[in-house]
Amino acid sequence: MHILSTNQFKKDEVEKLLSRASEMEKSLRDSNTSKLLSGKIIACIFFEPSTRTRLSFETAALRLGANIISAENAMGNSSAYKGETIEDTARMLSCYADAIVMRHPAAGSIETASKVTETPIINAGDGANQHPTQGLLDLYTIQKEHGRLDNLSIAFVGDILNSRTLRSLVPLLTMWKNNKFYFISPKELVLGDEYRKYLNDNGINFEEKNNLEDCLSKVDVLYMTRVQKERFSNIADYEKVKDSFILKMEHVGKLKSDAIIMHPLPRVNEIDTEIDKEKRAAYFRQAQNGLYIRMALLLHVFNL
Ligand code: NCD
Repeated sequence: MHILSTNQFKKDEVEKLLSRASEMEKSLRDSNTSKLLSGKIIACIFFEPSTRTRLSFETAALRLGANIISAENAMGNSSAYKGETIEDTARMLSCYADAIVMRHPAAGSIETASKVTETPIINAGDGANQHPTQGLLDLYTIQKEHGRLDNLSIAFVGDILNSRTLRSLVPLLTMWKNNKFYFISPKELVLGDEYRKYLNDNGINFEEKNNLEDCLSKVDVLYMTRVQKERFSNIADYEKVKDSFILKMEHVGKLKSDAIIMHPLPRVNEIDTEIDKEKRAAYFRQAQNGLYIRMALLLHVFNL
């Protein structure tokens, strides 16, 4: 079984993953994780930079007793540099490892790779398309912080056009009732036409805005994003929009008392660091939750 997109999941599967992640969290707290993946080898191959995703996957594998083989900076240091196709790379890794965690800058590339092998491939981010393991850890975070996944208002702020974490979280949240989305961006980074059509065709409740102030008092989740510099072909275009939305303490004062601030990280300047000490700042707790979800996902792909 491959994990390519959050659109592949049914609600009961997602619920199972969330409760498995919670079990994993508890087992780590009690220092009694079972080594269910003992004897397995997990390959992590990243053609784009990563800190949290790769290292939390590797930690998840090690905590469950697996071994890891890892290729970071694979664009420069793997045979991709010599011109090898993603399919051939996947074929080769499946000769060595029992599961493959892969990140690549091209949208759709992980799905392409998954077509040539039965060895489970987990998408760790493919261009601006999907980042399903992030979507699941975000969902787990919202459930933990709010105690529910329905009747929520969620504002995504920043690079709405290029955020793959948005594209993975939205379909998950729409499995629950009465969730409303606000997409707040500069005009250059609004939803792509195709994605807007997907939202409309699926009856998803959303509003597009270019002003942060309007929504602050309404939202339960304020989800900040980084402007995805690597998706711009022209640096001047990036410079023009990079500082569009910066969250400051004065904004936080307008949020509901139980609202949470999320960010998939890395943060550049989207959230003032003085906000870090706020109890509503959930982004470091969110990153920590990645470990539990990735443990649950590794077990899931092995049907354990
Ligand atoms: C995100 C990503 O790679 O899409 N990072 C992550 O995995 N936590 C967000 C980002 O890079 O802006």
